[in-house]
Amino acid sequence: MPTTTPAIHRGLAGVVVDTTEISTVIQETNSLTYRGYPVQDLATHHTFEEIAYLLWHGELPDDAQLRDFQARERSLRPTNRTTSALLARLPETCHPMDVLRTAVSFLGAEDPTEDDGSLTANRAKSLTLLAKLPTVVAADQRRRRGLDPIPPSPELGYAENFLHMCFGTVPDPETVRCFETSLILYAEHSFNASTFTARVVTSTLSDLYSAVTAAIGALKGPLHGGANEAVMHMLLEIGDPQRAEEWLEEALAAKRKIMGFGHRVYKHGDSRVPIMQDALDRLVARAAGPETTRLATLHAALQHTVIKRKGVHPNLDYPAGLAYHLMGFDTPTFTPIFVMSRIAGWTAHISEQLAHNALIRPLASYDGPGQRPVPASIWCP
Ligand code: ACO
Repeated sequence: MPTTTPAIHRGLAGVVVDTTEISTVIQETNSLTYRGYPVQDLATHHTFEEIAYLLWHGELPDDAQLRDFQARERSLRPTNRTTSALLARLPETCHPMDVLRTAVSFLGAEDPTEDDGSLTANRAKSLTLLAKLPTVVAADQRRRRGLDPIPPSPELGYAENFLHMCFGTVPDPETVRCFETSLILYAEHSFNASTFTARVVTSTLSDLYSAVTAAIGALKGPLHGGANEAVMHMLLEIGDPQRAEEWLEEALAAKRKIMGFGHRVYKHGDSRVPIMQDALDRLVARAAGPETTRLATLHAALQHTVIKRKGVHPNLDYPAGLAYHLMGFDTPTFTPIFVMSRIAGWTAHISEQLAHNALIRPLASYDGPGQRPVPASIWCP
């Protein structure tokens, strides 16, 4: 009987696997909305805490709801001694994303909350991770610099507190706003690879910490969240704005992907880039100096050259990578910062997946050998 070959959607490109109420990219206007609100407006007028609340609850908080949310988040920021001691024992040769993945797994093992998969239990776990991950990331960067950790401050907002834990001081409001903008833009992006990973794990009715641990693993790769670090390595490798064109030709000839460019969903430019680029421009203006000017000129020159030569546009990681460098973060801390933000989106999706769960289990078209007998020598050695 003739069989029809099923259509293969390698990389699930163009496949719609479920519905979501959390966010969408509106192709006609090339804009991203969280729960219906344009992210440009959210990034201009709101804080990251409000965005996390919006993603989890579907609406922005009123004053009382925000105060309650902030109080609970701030009270959960410290990590206990066991967690800190465990993380301090990890080799400094491991990537900070490995530290974060280990931290989430350990926090899950320690969490006494009953694992009934209920929305209430998952909201509590989500808030625990949102609050504690910045403490872990900041302590890890300081450890690698040979410095003692700085405890979280309940007096400071999410972005300010993280910057204070990293650097021992809260930078100027413009820098804090630039950092907060990046957190808001990174917070959610529908069924991207790491969010889908979290949904796959959740679909088996596994727990939230397992889903987030797996999502961190997916985000680490340079085709996804790891690209913000790869952008910085690339800029430092090129070094001189005059070399951008020559470097690009060599990279394309070697079939290298240009980090921070291209996107599965946006083919005419990432809607988040103009907002982040604007924040980066303001940061560059503040931090003026020969090194900053050289990097900013190179950044602009490479962008111009890649668009002209390949027609591929920058994604959010391109301006965010340089912005984090100029703020003073070590390059390996860039992707963990992405985690601190995307944890809001991942956990919103975990709750949504559980609310209408169906086990995620696609098919594959087999193209290995046909059925054949096992050789007798294998049965009777
Ligand atoms: N450098 C060079 N060429 C590129 C790039 C790039 N960064 N991105 C896309 N292209 C080209 C491809 O070579 C291909 O050209 P061709 O048709 O002539 O072969 C075409 O654009 C389509 O590219 P695909 O790889 O098929 O697009 P896909 O949707 O599969 O890939 C991806 C998207 C993985 C993000 C890709 O653009 C890439 O590797 N970018 C670099 C890594 C990166 O920046 N990742 C961050 C993504 S955003 C985020 O996670 C926040």
